[in-house]
Amino acid sequence: MITLLRIDSSLRMNDSYSRLMGDYFVQEWKIQHPQGKVIQRDVTLQLTPHLTQETLNGFFDETIHSEHLELSDLLIEELHTCDEILMTCPMYNYGIPSSLKAYFDQVVRTKKTFTNDSNGIKGLLLNKKASIISVMGMPQPLTQKRNPLEVQITNIFNQLGIMEISYFPMDGMINPEEAVLKMEQQKNFINQHFNHQEYATHTTSH
Ligand SMILES: Cc1cc2nc3c(=O)[nH]c(=O)nc-3n(C[C@H](O)[C@H](O)[C@H](O)COP(=O)(O)O)c2cc1C
Repeated sequence: MITLLRIDSSLRMNDSYSRLMGDYFVQEWKIQHPQGKVIQRDVTLQLTPHLTQETLNGFFDETIHSEHLELSDLLIEELHTCDEILMTCPMYNYGIPSSLKAYFDQVVRTKKTFTNDSNGIKGLLLNKKASIISVMGMPQPLTQKRNPLEVQITNIFNQLGIMEISYFPMDGMINPEEAVLKMEQQKNFINQHFNHQEYATHTTSH
């Protein structure tokens, strides 16, 4: 059965643009995969502990027991099990939420999600697709191909072997009119992504 792992990180449970767009993505994904399964991981509701020296030691030496290794194992198992990943991510203080960073620190793990030898780094999460919905209050510079959230998440995904990534960015959301426009635009891009019909007719592409 095809499986989508959805990872949310907005503190806002209601009216969060990233969560709303994530809901829309999942709705369209389910049309394409009626038998598909969606696993939900919410790093705000299910807080991941910060990496400690003890846990890090356990990453390199499996004879060392750390209370957090079991959670790391579980999160990594989720990543191996899924076929696709949907990550929704707001910008907090110029970067990804600290809860999402803590999540990544638990899953970017040698021998489990990547290897590193004289030939370099090789990701172990192969044949997986990912989509990133990123949301920012302020407008981002037009000269910038990828916003800081996309850059950081892409670097991590690439290290893990996830190379096929689709991007759905929304910036300038502090302005309500801009927010409506960006939501419509990205719904259309999601429709195109799934080869579904246009969502709105009065939207211009960017
Ligand atoms: C603690 C905090 C820090 C933020 N920092 C930034 C920032 O550095 N740059 C920015 O463009 N927007 C920033 N914002 C605005 C959010 O990115 C914006 O409200 C976005 O819509 C949040 O995502 P959500 O709608 O999914 O909750 C911040 C918001 C909060 C709550």
